[in-house]
Amino acid sequence: MKPGYSDVLIGLQYGDEGKAKVIDMLAKDYDIVARFNGGANAGHTIGTPDGKTVALNQIPSAIFHSNIILYIGSGCVVNLEKLAAEIEMITALHIDLNGRLHVSDQASVIQPHHLLLDSIMGGTIGTTKNGIGPCYSDKARRMYKDRLLNIRLGDLLDDPDACFAMMRKNFDEEIEAHYIQNVDIAAQLARMHSALEKIRPFVQRDTLFLLKQVQSGKRVLFEGAQSVMLDVTKGSVPYVTSSATVAGSAYVGGDLPPVYHRKTIGVAKAIMSRVGNGPFASEFGGEKSEAYCMEDGGNKNTRDTEEKIYDPAKLLASSDPFDIGIALRMLGREYGTVSKRPRRLGMLDLVQLTHAVKMNGIDLLFLTKCDLLKDFGKTSAKSIPVVTAYSLNGQPIDFVPGSNGAYRKVKVTIEEYAAFEESISGMKHWKKLPKSLLALMDQIEKRAGCNMLGVGTGPEREEYVLRK
Ligand code: IMP
Repeated sequence: MKPGYSDVLIGLQYGDEGKAKVIDMLAKDYDIVARFNGGANAGHTIGTPDGKTVALNQIPSAIFHSNIILYIGSGCVVNLEKLAAEIEMITALHIDLNGRLHVSDQASVIQPHHLLLDSIMGGTIGTTKNGIGPCYSDKARRMYKDRLLNIRLGDLLDDPDACFAMMRKNFDEEIEAHYIQNVDIAAQLARMHSALEKIRPFVQRDTLFLLKQVQSGKRVLFEGAQSVMLDVTKGSVPYVTSSATVAGSAYVGGDLPPVYHRKTIGVAKAIMSRVGNGPFASEFGGEKSEAYCMEDGGNKNTRDTEEKIYDPAKLLASSDPFDIGIALRMLGREYGTVSKRPRRLGMLDLVQLTHAVKMNGIDLLFLTKCDLLKDFGKTSAKSIPVVTAYSLNGQPIDFVPGSNGAYRKVKVTIEEYAAFEESISGMKHWKKLPKSLLALMDQIEKRAGCNMLGVGTGPEREEYVLRK
């Protein structure tokens, strides 16, 4: 039997590039879609066949392809209650996950004290409060005294009583350390217990499961969560997530040796976004926008608030980039899927994009949300601004600086591309896309040294154009 292969798809910017839609679009050419990092901090939205949307957090985005196996790898962290709820939600859509969904028994479990610690400490970074960082940090700390800090699904199934007792101790220790009183952990543990029973049939105890599938000819698509700039090592540390998000990490958390790797697909969005704090060189409105979007941890200027106060058409015509950022957020509905926080918006940054393409060896690039570029036709400049060069301390640089301090000092050069008037929603042929958009694609290919796979032309499931 000829073995199969694996491709890796990752986001190239700060997350929320629309990876899930591209996964859903490409899934028919694969037998397995697998997650290798992160957990319920990911918000992957896909269109249902009847035109609605579903938001997935932990389950891979190919749920509507009934023949596809869905795998959650050992590099992921699992929130039992949320996973059980997600399974229930998908089952309610008449999708049978039995025999399709497999969760590695080596994946770590998010414990109550992880959620507590994230709620206490995650504010400065602006985390999603899902306990992701504390869980990965306990994975590295492994154990303390006679108890596990890193409890994995397999441990829980082997000895649930011992593991729940350890979770309780882990929690008690933290509430004592942080002088927290009157917290009833018993109800939370009971809910986790019942969630575990729902998840039990999906836990994969064969640690070579994915390898055996590929050896028998199956084709895997790895689905990255978060994105390159949020990588715990290569991203804008410390304002990052706590897992490895770069392409190579698929072969650590995804439970397959790299020998099966075929190609790497990158997804970027035409108007960039970022949630949480941290440098963002091309942000409309710069640090003013960062402070505004992150006010009260991102919970102040939400979609409801902005819709009550602002008229996006008026703001779009403003000469202040801060106003343009608000208008683009409202028109593009750029608010967090998980957190509902306003996303900070920025110009497409070709220096950052090229950096991410080269660092990850991207072969094919998909640019999502190109329909939103049309809004630039209504700005006073009537053109699409794109960042094309960086300088640091007066010297040109062609990379993203490794430290936050340096990245905040970067000065950007902006070039303007002609805006287009026509709606691209519904277009299906690459050559019929507006000339200025094609010129931008050309520029991306030349600079980044990869080929365009396609572009997103609207939010609906079928709204995309492939280059072919
Ligand atoms: P955490 O992953 O919850 O620890 O959050 C760390 C940082 O990553 C915060 O700035 C989050 O807003 C960001 N982040 C985490 N998951 C996502 C995602 O799926 N999309 C975009 N940003 C994310």
